[in-house]
Formats: sequence, structure tokens, C-alpha cells
Amino acid sequence: MPNTARDIFVVGLRNAHAMETQARELMERQSERLDDYPEVKAKVTAHLGETNEQLKRLEQCLEACGESTSSLKDTAQSVMANAMAMAHSMAGDEILKNTFANNAFENFEIATYKSLLALCGQAGVDSARAPLETSLKEEERMAAWVVSNVEKITLEYASREERKAA
Ligand SMILES: [Fe+2]
Repeated sequence: MPNTARDIFVVGLRNAHAMETQARELMERQSERLDDYPEVKAKVTAHLGETNEQLKRLEQCLEACGESTSSLKDTAQSVMANAMAMAHSMAGDEILKNTFANNAFENFEIATYKSLLALCGQAGVDSARAPLETSLKEEERMAAWVVSNVEKITLEYASREERKAA
């Protein structure tokens, strides 16, 4: 018997897995170059740890749906994330661009988890609810941190540039 909600849910889990893999690549590249911004570096590094757990949770959800996790096609997107991070690495205002990108990315992740949570019941995978809610809360905390630190990071960047120019 076809189960459309379940199919949509499984595709959503796979897309979320690709998204988190991309997030991990972006944060790994960022954290390597954040020595001038120790507070941001600490936050990105902590969220990198959370992201690894989120990937495991998504794999567990896929397994609960009877799906194999061995064939997850995340490679192409990972390569793209790397290329994006490298393209940024020469820009003087990289810290700002990364902050804006992180704001966008975290909100994209929030929408993704909300969408998956909306489908749990209809998909008949109630066991996925708790792990997806845990991940959603982590994304909400990270998104809130990013957006509430935009001004501070901007002014920190500006005073670094002014010191350089002086
Ligand atoms: Fe995230």
C-alpha cells in the first residue's frame, strides 16, 4: 500500500541529511579561520558538535523508516559547500558574509525540522518526533545566537579594520 506522507517524510529526511552535511562542511571551513573572533569560533565549534549529533539522529530516523543510510548522496553538495567556503576565504569581510550565511542556514534548518515534525504522525513514524525536536531546539538556539550577535560582530570587524588602517 502506498504511503505518500511516509514517502515525503523519507525524502525530507534525506534532504535534511544532505543539508546538515553541507552545514558541517561550511562550519569546519569557517572554524579554521575564526581565530580573530574567538567567541564566534567557540560557538561555531560547539554547533559543529551538535550538527554531528543531528546527522546521527537523521540516520536513526531513516533506519526507523526501514531506509538504508549507506547510499546517502551528500558528496556533491559537500563539494559545493567547500567551494563556497574557499571562494569566501579571500574576502576581507568574510566574517560578515559568514554571519549572514549562518543566519540564513540556521533558519533554513529550522524550517526543515518543522516540516519533518509536521509529517511524523501521518508518516507513522512517531519515534522520530523526539530526536527531530531536539535538533530543532538546537537550530533555534543557534539561529537566535547568530541574529543577536550581528551588530556585535559587525562592530568588532569594523574596529579591527580601523586598527589595521591606522
Ligand atoms: Fe544548525
